[in-house]
Amino acid sequence: MRWISFVGLGPVGLCTAVCFAAKGYKVTASEIDKTKAIQIKRGKPPFYEQNLKEMLQETINNENLKIVTSNEEAVLQSDVTLITVGTPTKQDGNMNLTYVINASKDIGKALKKKEETQFIAVKSTVTPGTTLNVVKPTLEKYSGKKCGKDFLLCFNPEFLSEGNAIRGTLNPDYIAIGGYNQKSTETLENLYKEFHKENLPPIIKTNIPTAELIKYANNAFLATKISLINTIANICEKTPGADVTKVAEAIGNDHRINPYFLEAGLGWGGSCFPKDLKAFIAYSKKLGYNPTLIQATIETNQNQIKFTMQKIKQELKTIKGKRIAVLGLAFKPNTDDVREARSIKIISQLLTQGATITAYDPMATSNTKKILNQKIRYASSAIECLKNADCAILVTEWEEFKKLKSEDFIQSMRQPILIDGRRLYNPREFKKLRYITIGLGKPLEPQL
Ligand code: UDX
Repeated sequence: MRWISFVGLGPVGLCTAVCFAAKGYKVTASEIDKTKAIQIKRGKPPFYEQNLKEMLQETINNENLKIVTSNEEAVLQSDVTLITVGTPTKQDGNMNLTYVINASKDIGKALKKKEETQFIAVKSTVTPGTTLNVVKPTLEKYSGKKCGKDFLLCFNPEFLSEGNAIRGTLNPDYIAIGGYNQKSTETLENLYKEFHKENLPPIIKTNIPTAELIKYANNAFLATKISLINTIANICEKTPGADVTKVAEAIGNDHRINPYFLEAGLGWGGSCFPKDLKAFIAYSKKLGYNPTLIQATIETNQNQIKFTMQKIKQELKTIKGKRIAVLGLAFKPNTDDVREARSIKIISQLLTQGATITAYDPMATSNTKKILNQKIRYASSAIECLKNADCAILVTEWEEFKKLKSEDFIQSMRQPILIDGRRLYNPREFKKLRYITIGLGKPLEPQL
């Protein structure tokens, strides 16, 4: 069994490191943010992810997982290194490669001190060309060694879906390996064969730029799928009798479409889709190609907020002075992440227009406070959130919100107007209140 090191302990690094350690690998993981590293060392993940805390504590206690604050130290203690640092977007949409470059420098310095052939894989999302044109030369410069001969290199995209990160890492749909040479590809392939054993998913072997592109293609496709169903939802709304939920249910049966990522609503947010699509557009434009479809995917997503604001305005006439209850802050259920969350965008616009906001989320309140501070009130339950509200907006489809009945809204609110931004409720069961949603046309006249 190989000794593995991880450089960077964000969601991808930490979840993957813990999964390797749980499978019995000896893992050394480095996080240069000391406060974060101490917290992780104490068995406390800096973000919520199902089963992560338990697995982290177990692997730290059985000493399969060691947390350090020096990238060099981690590399020196391993023969396989996975780069899992963040690649945030700059103002112009391009990637900020500082963390990738710094990690590569540190790994290079460690390689200089090592005799054995190190295997390195980039898992951080980077635009095509970055691994070969930035990571490889940096590693070579700081190690004084030659890629393909003295060390091996791959790009291996991650498809971590927040809220499902551990399960997804243990059972991915597929693995893509972009190898510098055959030996590099084989090394990573063998590692995954050993990791997944009889549950080995399909492995796509290719060159490095193709593997880098696979990651963007995957995310662009999924985001476009959501924007497409939202486009259909908007057309349904203008078609008496039409219901996008039924349309999605039907077309999902076509195996070429499949039923996933067809949930119409407020659109997509999170740490990946917005950042990756922007970076993909910036990358394409640099090559002289304007990816109009991906631009439209983003624009369609932005419009979902605009259309929802119009709905609120139509109901309340004036937003100024109105009390609005926001159910759900996280960008999706089962996470405490509010990066690019739809909630933040809607709340910001409502605040600008003079509304008073009370919000409730089972997990994401503390992260929201870091962005919105005390500009809004934070309730400790859904019912408390709804109290005396003039309008409620359901932004995140948490399981606990599914249990709310129309009476809960009617009894708690000043005027029971509900904008269901995630198609969570059955409109027939919410007839007693003013129920407005996305993708539902006006009811048809009863047929005689
Ligand atoms: C995504 C990709 O799924 C993952 O493979 C990649 O590595 C990172 O980006 P994540 O951001 O964790 O993962 O969330 P995901 O489940 O993809 O949802 C993204 C957004 O789309 C959420 O805001 C979600 O609410 C929204 N969404 C998803 C919809 O609006 N409708 C859907 O049908 C599915």
